[in-house]
Amino acid sequence: MRARLVVLGSGEGTNLQALIDACRDPGYGARVVAVGADRPAAGTLARAGQAGIPAFTVRLADYPSREDWDVALTRACTAYAPDLVVLAGFMKLVGKPFLDRFGGRCLNTHPALLPSFPGAHGVRDALAHGVKVTGCTVFLIDESVDAGPIVAQACVPVADDDDEAVLHERIKVTERALLRDTVGRMVREGWSVHGRKVRIGP
Ligand code: GAR
Repeated sequence: MRARLVVLGSGEGTNLQALIDACRDPGYGARVVAVGADRPAAGTLARAGQAGIPAFTVRLADYPSREDWDVALTRACTAYAPDLVVLAGFMKLVGKPFLDRFGGRCLNTHPALLPSFPGAHGVRDALAHGVKVTGCTVFLIDESVDAGPIVAQACVPVADDDDEAVLHERIKVTERALLRDTVGRMVREGWSVHGRKVRIGP
């Protein structure tokens, strides 16, 4: 049976698209059962629509508190009984209700080599620091910001003339392949977490 993925994203949705495309192969081992966003204009929602995948929006502004929003987001995801939740460019921090439900089976992807350059501006911060190599990180979320156990990383060179947009696009080419391959391996082979170390496979 194929694993059920719920993918959350706020942005353009190219990482989501990489997962949707991979799931067309039954041998990939997963299918995207729902897509969620925190804003109605997210590209992820349009991509879900094009692929015929159910989608939902849970806007922070529609709830009296952050915790109420988090509970609503958790409920919306739970309705699709995911085996794995993937945050693919989801630009909101999730809280305790979400972690209580999906901790240990919620992946996030970040456009830098964590633990360097966490936060909302990983590409900009890496560029400002003058690093010559950066990359992307797929990790399991926990209560920290971008500091959960790392599942996979890949390197991307920084060119002298890069600006944030050019570098981010180069990172995203590598990131899409890393996310696709990592999710596929996890759903097909399983995974375990020992302290900070994540191992895919038996
Ligand atoms: C990706 O590069 C992802 O790592 C980043 O947003 C982009 C989403 O692209 N996420 C963060 O910066 C989270 N801190 P996409 O919408 O085209 O998939």
